[in-house]
Amino acid sequence: SGMGGNCPFSGRDGGVRALLGRTNRDWWPDALQLDILTQNGTSPDPMGPDYDYAEAFKQLDYQALKADLHALMTDSQPWWPADYGHYGPFFIRMAWHSAGTYRTADGRGGSSSGQQRFAPLNSWPDNGNLDKARRLLWPIKQKYGKHISWADLFILTGNVAIESMGGPVFGFGGGRADVFEPERDVYWGTEEEWVDTGAETRIQPDKGWELEAPLAAIQMGLIYVNPEGPGGVPDPLQSARDMRITFERMAMNDEETVALTAGGHAFGKAHGAVPPDQLSGAPESEALHLMGFGWATDAEQIERGHITTSGIEGAWTPNPTQWGGDYFRLLFKYDYELVRSPAGAQQWQPINPDPEDMAPDARDPSKKVPTMMTTADMALKMDPEYRKISERFRDDQAALDDAFARAWFKLTHRDMGPKVRYLGPEVPAEDLIWQDPVPAGSKPSDAAVEAFKSAILASGLPMSALVKAAWASASTYRRSDHRGGANGARVRLAPQKDWAVNDPAELATVLAKIEELRGELSVADAIVLAGSAAVEKAARDAGFDVSVPFLGGRGDASDEQTDAESFEPLEPRADAFRNYLATKQTVKTEEIMLDRAHLLGLSIPQMAVLVAGLRVLGANAGNSSKGVLTDRPGLLTNDFFVNLLDMRTAWKTVDESGDEEFVGTDRATGETRWHATRTDLVFGSNSQLRAVSEVYAEHGNELKFVQDFIAAWVKVMNADRFDVK
Ligand code: HEM
Repeated sequence: SGMGGNCPFSGRDGGVRALLGRTNRDWWPDALQLDILTQNGTSPDPMGPDYDYAEAFKQLDYQALKADLHALMTDSQPWWPADYGHYGPFFIRMAWHSAGTYRTADGRGGSSSGQQRFAPLNSWPDNGNLDKARRLLWPIKQKYGKHISWADLFILTGNVAIESMGGPVFGFGGGRADVFEPERDVYWGTEEEWVDTGAETRIQPDKGWELEAPLAAIQMGLIYVNPEGPGGVPDPLQSARDMRITFERMAMNDEETVALTAGGHAFGKAHGAVPPDQLSGAPESEALHLMGFGWATDAEQIERGHITTSGIEGAWTPNPTQWGGDYFRLLFKYDYELVRSPAGAQQWQPINPDPEDMAPDARDPSKKVPTMMTTADMALKMDPEYRKISERFRDDQAALDDAFARAWFKLTHRDMGPKVRYLGPEVPAEDLIWQDPVPAGSKPSDAAVEAFKSAILASGLPMSALVKAAWASASTYRRSDHRGGANGARVRLAPQKDWAVNDPAELATVLAKIEELRGELSVADAIVLAGSAAVEKAARDAGFDVSVPFLGGRGDASDEQTDAESFEPLEPRADAFRNYLATKQTVKTEEIMLDRAHLLGLSIPQMAVLVAGLRVLGANAGNSSKGVLTDRPGLLTNDFFVNLLDMRTAWKTVDESGDEEFVGTDRATGETRWHATRTDLVFGSNSQLRAVSEVYAEHGNELKFVQDFIAAWVKVMNADRFDVK
């Protein structure tokens, strides 16, 4: 299962699915539909457009906040007492589950917008009782207010928890701005049942043991795997298979997976003291008087530590609030037998443990109870590859310290994008390959910009090829994890230079010419400037007196600074902007367009003008004529919309699949006028998109179209310019 097969929309079984699968509305049809108040572009964000989180964070008293978090660790509250008098392990699980939804295929999930506060994540079975962890943090969030986001607080609290128990920490970068509504763009799967109702896992022999992309968990409502084993079957080797594929989807290799899991389970305990039927429902479905809490049980049970979260019961080590090597020591010292927890979950217990290897009771340190391992923990011993790593870590604590600290930093920062986005005094100096480092660029002189513009426009290269190269370079950007984009000029490196959608031969010609003519400009700047110059020329040739703003200063990354494999999931298998479809996907082509527009941060009109403008500029992959609805290609005009809405044309499908390609004929003469795809016709067939198309086809809006196209183009070209924002 290479990352290359990790295309978010390719199905193994040839099935069709809706872009978003099962949504909050499906899970909780009776929930308050607040989004009726967010119509017409009304933001639900109470902070308003002038609030700048990065600025507010800079005024944070960071050390005071950390001191308060340290104090919170042992400030046990009667409504949810701290196990062993220390909330550290609980907060580590909160932070891990906040970050652990991240997946490489589309960059979505992760900790960066504080989504654990909202459905569906607040109610996932795997996030059981984390509602209490977040609520324990409220007094501190309240105290520091606008200077610290929930999203940052979740991760920083995890770091402080590790530090406060003697664990190794690599650093912290702030900068995760909160949002105030559930994200609606994330596909979490199609299942209609949560994991705990015994539904089938996603990894099945008849699906080639593959996991549907972009998903990174084996069942709905899990962060990764079922701790009891696949589908509740306590088989450590099958659990290893599931761990490997799900952690890989989160950009973790075997060593990182072992370090994270073992390091995490050096701390805390699992909760399975009471049968799950004694709990109420999840937060999103609970009664008002519970004030956002779910999984309710009575106060006396909580007081006594009779709590069920996962259903598994017990600590992994004799020192659950102290970092150290006990996890691996016990895992290898004992044989483990399968037992059931009081809640009925299958778990593994050491046979005949020595008294000093027993764990304290979570409420009464004088009482000793057996430790345990989950089936997933047993995988670290039973799987041959994991075992080699585990034995090494058992024998070399310093190696585990380093591996855990680094993997934790990656886990919690992987969705933040380039290092320039990190804030605060604890940002590590070291560059890490997964941060996609780009050397700082310098702003080229106006003279150099003008000289290159004239030279490239006179170079004899087709204008469309310049537009395509710039688009290929910039449009990989995705705001989900801030990867991709024009900075670094990685379009000239593997794997991007060879992607089919980029027309590699043509791209190579353009890049060679750019390299020859660029002068003092970075390659990255020159690629963008060449495309922008071609757009400007196309607009002026069409009679519009406009210019395309250019923001220089990009740097060029090298092969050594590029983890080529990690860029494979960024390859578009469908790109509406270049009218490209490699093979039919499980999701409708126009839905993939929507998804890509979302990742680029585009509005509906921006998406529309970019498709329309790129068509008439001839930016199609393979230089096809599909959707080039103009008699004067190469001029930047609104012809696409005008001709699309022209009632003289009748459309019908032509291709074998019956619904990807279309031909438009003259109603009067029967003559073929145009060829087009779904992502062309959707701008005339969908009522909402048609309304936008009409605006741009209207008399008087010709210049508006050109201006709006240029603004959207520049937005995409500069989408990753965090160095200037
Ligand atoms: C707790 C499973 C990876 C940190 C738990 C619990 C389960 C579990 C079942 C008990 C929850 C409860 O009942 O309260 C797994 C599985 C993993 C995994 C199956 C991967 C295969 C990790 C990772 C970390 C981590 C990567 C952090 C680096 C923790 C901590 C607790 C915990 C600190 C204790 C929470 C507490 O004491 O309240 N895990 N985990 N786990 N997990 Fe993991």
